[in-house]
Amino acid sequence: MTSHVFISRSAEQTRDLGRALAAALRPDDVVTLTGDLGAGKTCLAQGVAAGLGVTEAVTSPTFNILLEHRGSLTLYHFDLYRLERADQLEDIAFWETLEAGGASLIEWGERFPGALPDDHLAVVITIEPDGSRKLVPEPRGPRAAGLLERWEHAAGWTGVGA
Ligand SMILES: Nc1ncnc2c1ncn2[C@@H]1O[C@H](COP(=O)(O)OP(=O)(O)OP(=O)(O)O)[C@@H](O)[C@H]1O
Ligand SMILES: [Mg+2]
Repeated sequence: MTSHVFISRSAEQTRDLGRALAAALRPDDVVTLTGDLGAGKTCLAQGVAAGLGVTEAVTSPTFNILLEHRGSLTLYHFDLYRLERADQLEDIAFWETLEAGGASLIEWGERFPGALPDDHLAVVITIEPDGSRKLVPEPRGPRAAGLLERWEHAAGWTGVGA
């Protein structure tokens, strides 16, 4: 299966991609979001939350490390930007949380590659010269491959740049 690239031309389009991702998520799925400051990681997470029926505001968990939102699945929204060492992940029950039956989105997850579950969907977001965002999803196992397939389907995949 070849994986595709999503192009988003606005924050609203990124949130729509998040809604589509929400429709594809199953319990214990793990998605890492990597990209520059302001690339749109939290924006995508807001769309996921909306798609899961979360009604409260979804903000950046930069200072909290983990924010939890109740929806059709519980959304565990991590931001590891301020975490200094991998062993601090124990303090937030990182591994237990990933397996608690919800769906996890991990901003800056690639800072601690050894701490991530083998099978996760890695999404890299880059800001293009024209200001649009390129989202490159890379499945790191069979579970993530299935998730990506459902995400592309839910997003109404039509081709690069669509
Ligand atoms: N196509 C787009 N997709 C997402 N955000 C966009 C897009 N175009 C412009 N923006 C703007 O870029 C910003 C993205 O901010 P966001 O907080 O989602 O970034 P982030 O990747 O989570 O950054 P941080 O690393 O600081 O957590 C928002 O202000 C949003 O309005
Ligand atoms: Mg963020």
